[in-house]
Amino acid sequence: VVGASGGIGRALVEQLLKQGGFGRVFALSRSVGQPPSGAIGGHIDVVAESTIAQAAEAVAAHGPVGLIVVATGLLHADGVGPEKTWRALDPETLARLFAVNTIGPALVAKHFLPLLPRDRRSVFAALSARVGSVSDNRLGGWYGYRASKAALNQIVRTLAIELVRSRPAAICVALHPGTVATELSRPFRSGAEGDRLFTPAVAAGHLLGVLDGLTPADTGGLFAWDGAQIPF
Ligand SMILES: NC(=O)c1ccc[n+]([C@@H]2O[C@H](COP(=O)([O-])OP(=O)(O)OC[C@H]3O[C@@H](n4cnc5c(N)ncnc54)[C@H](OP(=O)(O)O)[C@@H]3O)[C@@H](O)[C@H]2O)c1
Repeated sequence: VVGASGGIGRALVEQLLKQGGFGRVFALSRSVGQPPSGAIGGHIDVVAESTIAQAAEAVAAHGPVGLIVVATGLLHADGVGPEKTWRALDPETLARLFAVNTIGPALVAKHFLPLLPRDRRSVFAALSARVGSVSDNRLGGWYGYRASKAALNQIVRTLAIELVRSRPAAICVALHPGTVATELSRPFRSGAEGDRLFTPAVAAGHLLGVLDGLTPADTGGLFAWDGAQIPF
């Protein structure tokens, strides 16, 4: 799991350890922190390619990888927030959003997809968002986040087309986790309380369940937490 310090990333690591389906679980993150007990920690900054290459090398030493989940992402930070109007468009903010949300997962794929086995089912999944769907965009706003996730979806589709040539049993998808109670959604989730706001643990369970049910025919798609495919 890349982005294991995040709300959903950490819950994914914990869930994978609990399920016990994998021999080893790597919790890779930018922030230095204690990985959940039983996971192997490691440093990765998705905007610094050398750290991605080093992390992939360290993971590769343990053999082929059955599942890669990229759970990094940026919606707001100091000086970065979702734009309500084109008047708020700012080149630096747009570049930061694309660096983390699009280019980061693309570079993780570059260094980690070669670790997938050639002869059996494996999965690469990147956490995207429904708001990255162009056809689903009825509300507007959030230019940079939307566009960076739309571009991520295109990267995932393109990776899937290339991946099938060397690894026909592999699955490469983008995921929408629903609205999840994490730092990322905190300022924006007033419209999603109760049943429509998932805890990270519940969201991780949903996402791993969706991944379990996918077949190679699903590769290249964007899937929501309930397994429904979202049109691009
Ligand atoms: N929460 C929701 O409602 C929701 C809805 C739709 C989609 N998503 C997507 O789900 C994913 C996970 O989000 P979350 O809710 O778990 O958010 P979160 O708790 O804010 O976690 C975001 C993670 O991204 C990491 N990150 C940011 N920049 C990074 C970088 N340069 N290198 C490495 N790691 C970096 C953060 O690491 P640090 O700890 O080092 O900052 C953190 O681990 C994101 O892609 C998000 O867009 C979330």
